[in-house]
Amino acid sequence: MFTHSDLSRLQAQSLKMQGFIRQQTYSPESEKTLRRFSSWEVSELILKVNQSTLRGRLAADPSLPQGVVEEDGRQRWYSLEEINELRRRLRIGKRSLTPPRPANKRAIRAAIANFKGGAGKSTVALHFAHAAALDGYRVLAIDFDPQATLSHSMGLSDVAEEYTVWGIMARDLATETERMNTAARGAESGTALPQRLLPQAITEMGLAGLRANDFIRQTNWPTIDIVPSCANAAFVEFASAQYRHLNPEWSFFAAVSRFLDALPPDAYDIILFDCPPAIGYQSMNAVFAADVLYIPSGPGYWEYDSTTSFIGQLSEALEDLTRFNGLVPAGTLSLPKVFLDLRFLLTRFEPGNELHRAMQQAFVKVFGERVAQHPIEMTRAVEQSGRFLSSIYEIDYRDMTRETWRRARASFDRAYDEFRGNLTTAWDQLEDEA
Ligand SMILES: Nc1ncnc2c1ncn2[C@@H]1O[C@H](COP(=O)(O)OP(=O)(O)O)[C@@H](O)[C@H]1O
Ligand SMILES: [Mg+2]
Repeated sequence: MFTHSDLSRLQAQSLKMQGFIRQQTYSPESEKTLRRFSSWEVSELILKVNQSTLRGRLAADPSLPQGVVEEDGRQRWYSLEEINELRRRLRIGKRSLTPPRPANKRAIRAAIANFKGGAGKSTVALHFAHAAALDGYRVLAIDFDPQATLSHSMGLSDVAEEYTVWGIMARDLATETERMNTAARGAESGTALPQRLLPQAITEMGLAGLRANDFIRQTNWPTIDIVPSCANAAFVEFASAQYRHLNPEWSFFAAVSRFLDALPPDAYDIILFDCPPAIGYQSMNAVFAADVLYIPSGPGYWEYDSTTSFIGQLSEALEDLTRFNGLVPAGTLSLPKVFLDLRFLLTRFEPGNELHRAMQQAFVKVFGERVAQHPIEMTRAVEQSGRFLSSIYEIDYRDMTRETWRRARASFDRAYDEFRGNLTTAWDQLEDEA
């Protein structure tokens, strides 16, 4: 027979060995680095300019980044920093190579959410982040999932739980409670409101002293940062329930939104959330902070079924938040939550599969325009690259048949182009920064 103390003993054993196990499975030299991109990729797939035009421009101006020649041949290979410098300095015809960003707006935020595990959320989040970075955008990713797939894929495996979304929430609880206490002290005398006390376990963590930037880490991509997650953050749901009890008026769902509001509006262009496979405190924070909601779903009937119950439960959870109306200072957040766009995105789609096509038609019949036009196709290349915790953009096309790589990449490129179109439309509708 076993009780909680047996589990605790097993965990203590495991913690003692954690460092050792990690060493055995991760070699220190396996630190993730970003490859260079060939002149073929740079001209045709990234900057989308004629290859000979680009070659001509580079030859005419030796001060432009010139990449390096690798052993295997004549092509030049460019780092992402070099590609971004080319973007800034080159104009082709009258065309600027920098991607569109509306003036006077903060970064646009998109949540990739569904509560079905395996729907393809992390794969979509990773690929959209990489596609956006290759497109010239500065990206911030937030990993809300304690399974930490996105964090691992972005090269972060050594993360302390205080520096995850949980830390952001606990810090928000501390600062919001302090704000409420100050307001209560300042209230008209005679109506002295009770002070809310937080347990030392929270105040002593010193989270209130951290700055927003302390939660942000660099990744193996120079223009992608991340608020990572880690397995230890799995207790967040449990802890958050206790926190709400400590201060029932704390708008727990707005912690990450407030965190992002504190960043300089032009620090990033696109902010992407990878959500956990559940509706809970963390996913509510993701959804509440998002301007745009992308809901990936597999192409099977049971996935349609669970996507249906996801939107039902999400709807109820969001409606439930409206009872916070009046509890938060006017102007800091508005309820009900409004999304600027909402799309369903079919993933792991096989165009040759009759059942998948029938399911796609059903999705369109039910959800109409809300279904993204370009599904993410199921490909061996993505399955394989996923096993190495890499995106198809990171994999060198010389490591597989070029056609296989090309087809997988093309599917994500189409989905990303559509995503970017939807984002820029939503971006224009964002309120101007003061
Ligand atoms: N388009 C795809 N083609 C092939 N395999 C995919 C594709 N999308 C996702 N997968 C694989 O399916 C599994 C689950 O995907 P993942 O993105 O982790 O789902 P979620 O984050 O929703 O749980 C992963 O092993 C991933 O590599
Ligand atoms: Mg995931």
